[in-house]
Amino acid sequence: MDSGQLNRLKKWFAEYVGGFYTGGQDAYLDKHIRLKEEHTARVCQEMRYILHGLKVRQADGLLAEAAALLHDVGRFEQFRRYRTYADPKSCDHGLLGCQVLCENGTLEGLDEPEKKILLDAVRWHGAKTVPSELEERSSYFCKLVRDADKLDVLGLLIDNFTRYYRDPKHFDLEVEFADEPFVSPDVLKAVFSGQLVDYRQIRTLHDAQMVLLGWVYDINFGPALVRILDKQYLDKIAAFLPETPEVRRAVEHIFTYVRSRLNPSH
Ligand SMILES: [Fe+2]
Repeated sequence: MDSGQLNRLKKWFAEYVGGFYTGGQDAYLDKHIRLKEEHTARVCQEMRYILHGLKVRQADGLLAEAAALLHDVGRFEQFRRYRTYADPKSCDHGLLGCQVLCENGTLEGLDEPEKKILLDAVRWHGAKTVPSELEERSSYFCKLVRDADKLDVLGLLIDNFTRYYRDPKHFDLEVEFADEPFVSPDVLKAVFSGQLVDYRQIRTLHDAQMVLLGWVYDINFGPALVRILDKQYLDKIAAFLPETPEVRRAVEHIFTYVRSRLNPSH
């Protein structure tokens, strides 16, 4: 990919997303569209941060940024159709994103291998795991997007939790999980044993917070892990959780894991 191609994609994306705003007629929709538009811009920034820490060819760096730009392109249609970002209640937004790109001919003019990489990255960026049968290059770019996406979502959710706990009655976003004062045992067990949690297992807000801590197991690139520590995301999430011995042990387990990834000799 060259910078002209990336700029064309950026222009297409801005126009495409612009078409979803209702100019205040549907303020709830406008707000949610804006959230994802801003999320996309920050994921592109996080991607550049990760790329800076890796030795990537310039053409691959541009392709990775294009993947970051397009990764959530299905979110806009998803929210307009279903009024939710919860995939289990609506549709697989990665699949919908691929359909959007194909229907709009967005990737026309790109090399076939690059098209395939972008479609694979969009399709699988939010899946529980990256399918093992994906080609090596597709898998690599998909993993880059997953890390950049997680970095932004972590920051965003920490902000949302903070705002929610400050004033739950006036919280203005969809709250997907019950505000119960515990972590479900199966979620705690999964995180403690380093397993990924199925999103259907999440019942409470504290479950969701525990799952966020467990995301470190699914971070692929060192610079993304460094970013998580620099921004103190793990401490901030841990502070939301109830102070029980099981929770404390799980949190310690996560910190030990991160330190061992960054400092394998210790
Ligand atoms: Fe996504």
